[in-house]
Amino acid sequence: MLDIKITRTTSPKAKPEGPLGFGRIFTDHMFIMDYTKGKGWHDPRIVSYQDLVLSPAAMVFHYGQEMFEGLKAYKGDDGKSYLFRPDMNGKRTNDTNKRLCIPELPVDDFVQAVKAVVKEDEDWIPTEPGTSLYVRPFIIATEPFLGVDVSETFMFIIILSPSGAYYEEGLAPVGIWIEDDYVRAVRGGMGFAKTGGNYAASLAAQVKAHDDGYSQVLWLDGVERKYIEEVGAMNIFFKIDGTVVTPMLSGSILPGITRDSVLTLCREWGIPTEERKISVEELLEAQKNGKLEEVFGTGTAAVISPVGKLRYKDEVMTISGGEIGPLSQKIYDTVTGIQLGKIEDKHGWRVEVK
Ligand code: PLP
Ligand code: COI
Repeated sequence: MLDIKITRTTSPKAKPEGPLGFGRIFTDHMFIMDYTKGKGWHDPRIVSYQDLVLSPAAMVFHYGQEMFEGLKAYKGDDGKSYLFRPDMNGKRTNDTNKRLCIPELPVDDFVQAVKAVVKEDEDWIPTEPGTSLYVRPFIIATEPFLGVDVSETFMFIIILSPSGAYYEEGLAPVGIWIEDDYVRAVRGGMGFAKTGGNYAASLAAQVKAHDDGYSQVLWLDGVERKYIEEVGAMNIFFKIDGTVVTPMLSGSILPGITRDSVLTLCREWGIPTEERKISVEELLEAQKNGKLEEVFGTGTAAVISPVGKLRYKDEVMTISGGEIGPLSQKIYDTVTGIQLGKIEDKHGWRVEVK
């Protein structure tokens, strides 16, 4: 149990009015905790949202030793605040930390810290449809040293951002570019970890896709460039001839919490599901035979995002006539319904912030 010291801001900001967008507005407070080798994690505190002072030699700037997480807080009709499966983010933090030689953090401390800072700024949780308070925990290596090594000091920080839809399209289907040149990650690399380097590696392809009018990139495996991996900020699902198929967790994709929730729901609804390798050829073939029924992405920021168009080299596949499919809609309604407390939460996924 952390003993969190709270120093409230003396100059609270005005709450935003109008469309929120994603990730550009920040609340009044943030959580910070330091790590020092030999001492462990120490000095957990909530302070006013502020800039950081770091040495220009801090290792995070040079070799990217850092991790981040993403989850959301929602306001229920009962006026209470809720998180969605925050323990899963805590567990994934430690999986990432192990890969990046960042000291682990007890899951209970992670969840306690998230709850504490959300509680402090719970009046910032937006309530317009499609909005929530996006929670961004992250850890950075702060030791000033230019050698390539494991930092001896770190900071764990949590910031909060009232946000709307991640994509400008909202729930309207997005166009996705299947990248056949650049790769994001390979097995044995750090694709399963939530660390900035994976996203830095994705930018060149994303710029190319944007220039061509596509929202995001769908990655292929790094070895054969044949099998589907995941999208820039979400996992990907296909409904092929009645079966819901998603790439298996092979070490090079992020084990999404929304992905896990969607698989659980589909199984409970009696829909056949498969976690396996899916080649682009299989998709093209299914599309030709009229069996590629729906495609959607899943993620905390992206929620459930229907895909209306998939481009691979010179081929452009239009999915569900460019509309949201019935299963994607049902999954969207159920996941957001559970998150907002409008649908019974049989799994204990919804966690009250108190
Ligand atoms: N894949 C990538 C690369 C992501 O950035 C995300 C977002 O967090 C996801 C998948 C979906 O993960 P989750 O559902 O846990 O948000
Ligand atoms: C999230 O969905 O929480 C993410 O971290 C994706 C991010 C790239 C916006």
